[in-house]
Amino acid sequence: MPGSRLSVVVTRRLPEAVETRLKELFNVELNESDVPFSREQLVAAMQRADVLVPTLNDEIDQRVLAQAGEKLRLIANYGAGFDHIDVQTARQRGILVSNTPGVLTDDTADTTMALILMTMRRFKEGSNVMQSGDWNGWSPSAFLGARVGGKRLGILGMGRIGQAVARRARPFGLQIHYHNRKKVHPAIEDELEATYWESLDQMLSRIDILSINCPHTPSTFHLLNARRLKLMKPSAFVVNTSRGEVIDENAFTRMLRAGDLAGAGLDVFERGNVVNPRLRGLDNVMLLPHMGSATHEGRLEMGEKVIINIKTFADGHRPPDQVVPAML
Ligand code: DGY
Repeated sequence: MPGSRLSVVVTRRLPEAVETRLKELFNVELNESDVPFSREQLVAAMQRADVLVPTLNDEIDQRVLAQAGEKLRLIANYGAGFDHIDVQTARQRGILVSNTPGVLTDDTADTTMALILMTMRRFKEGSNVMQSGDWNGWSPSAFLGARVGGKRLGILGMGRIGQAVARRARPFGLQIHYHNRKKVHPAIEDELEATYWESLDQMLSRIDILSINCPHTPSTFHLLNARRLKLMKPSAFVVNTSRGEVIDENAFTRMLRAGDLAGAGLDVFERGNVVNPRLRGLDNVMLLPHMGSATHEGRLEMGEKVIINIKTFADGHRPPDQVVPAML
């Protein structure tokens, strides 16, 4: 591999600076139209490329991987989440997988805070009234929401993003609670004055806001199922900037509609871009189109990470952000 120019197929448009640098370094095929690849196009790309640069739109499962060409050696994902890639099967076929961790942390944590504020303080409803021209002036009883300060925030998944959420939430007066596979380092717990709950069930019944910041893996699929959601207080809010699959969306929607939960801020959905229509009409639900990490700076940094991963691999080393099945 060292010395030869790798053939790289990129499945979506990336920032211009990233595409330019990729073209300088490799034999690159870009997706000028930016239309997501069909399954057939994805397979064809994986048959002609040494390196594939997919995004979360590309479902790279066992069947797709079985048709990959002999040349394909690296899947350098443009994104932090890699639940759309069957990492185990890729590894068995000798294909490395890398991602772009760390550079989306702050933007995603900012989005989480925005969703907490938007939903608890009913800013969406306020904005809708202004946009429609229906505002009749200030009233002591209009748009009353829940005060953020003093509430208990439960963070599900205390990795990089969960910790960044906690750091932002503290100055708003939120008390930090968390559930994670492992307790975080005592120095971080002290800094955040965070309370660890080994039992997710116990945490859920005591918090006022739940922020989902764990990845989607086989063990977190529907972690928030109907039984667990029912443990939450009817006055509680749920914010999800991670992956929709962590919540049983049908059960969740039913509870929101019935008033068994106070509200939700959702940037991600169980069926990708197919949003449950019964979520759409709800005043107490703020929906965003998976834009939690959508900043110019973040997208550039993601591209830089992809380039470093491919370049390091081309130079005969393991990509610094290699994903291994043990991370699942
Ligand atoms: C990722 O990279 O996994 C994010 O979800 C994109 O916002």
